[in-house]
Amino acid sequence: MAVHRTENPLPARRAPAQTAPVFTDADAAALYDTLNPWDPDHRMDDGFYFPLVMAADSVLDVGCGTGSMLALARARGHRGRLTGIDPDRAMLDRARRHEGIEWIEAAAAQAPEGAGFALATMTGHAFQNLLTDDDIRASLRGVHAALRPGGRFAFETRHPLARAWEGWTARNPEDVVEVVDEQGRPLRYWHEVDSVADGIVAFHGTVAAPDGTVLRVLTESLRFPGPAELHAFLTEAGFTVQEQYGSWDRTPVTDASPEIITVASRG
Ligand SMILES: C[S@@+](CC[C@H](N)C(=O)[O-])C[C@H]1O[C@@H](n2cnc3c(N)ncnc32)[C@H](O)[C@@H]1O
Repeated sequence: MAVHRTENPLPARRAPAQTAPVFTDADAAALYDTLNPWDPDHRMDDGFYFPLVMAADSVLDVGCGTGSMLALARARGHRGRLTGIDPDRAMLDRARRHEGIEWIEAAAAQAPEGAGFALATMTGHAFQNLLTDDDIRASLRGVHAALRPGGRFAFETRHPLARAWEGWTARNPEDVVEVVDEQGRPLRYWHEVDSVADGIVAFHGTVAAPDGTVLRVLTESLRFPGPAELHAFLTEAGFTVQEQYGSWDRTPVTDASPEIITVASRG
């Protein structure tokens, strides 16, 4: 597989190990960073968000994962409040290695109410982890309550019509990646889709040694809401869509767009 969040889902980290626990949750979180270095200077998706973050006096990164975006913001001189929130302990444990940032182990729905953030982000297609209508509604309520009036929420989802999941297979050479992990282990990683139903794609990623020995199978499900559905959820939650793009080059959303990139404001 290619190693970019733009093109690929990444390891779910709470799936049960299929073999002896030689590849732990912490290893999966480290693999995430190996596959997805945060790089706003060279990656268009990271380059979209980073100026928003640097220009906002306070930022809540929802589904912050290993915290790379906020860590780089602090390293590059952001002086305001930076808070990352994520329900995945192993991911957040990695984020906690970065000092000077508040890390909260919780889901979007539990975002800090009344905190008055200027900007909330949900990068790396994290929004697609919200599977049910109730989860989307509760999460948007949480983000809304954490923003100040006029505060903005920026996030992206993959456009369902682009059917990105069709590339998530070992039959696609771009989906099979070979890396050396932080412990110096050569690894192979690829995906297979298990089901596509009702707008939700269930799939698994396999982490294997070069000889094919399976070290870990990581399962995940992602929802692919369309533009109208997203708009309805945002409006219901009290957001106004300010900007929406179908690609990182800021072209409009069409039926051929790979992404739906949304910047909404809290009313
Ligand atoms: C693909 S990772 C993206 C991490 C990071 N934002 C990035 O761009 O690298 C998706 C993240 O969403 C988190 N997540 C899943 N469900 C969530 C929820 N209900 N609320 C907030 N975050 C959630 C996962 O734990 C995971 O860390």
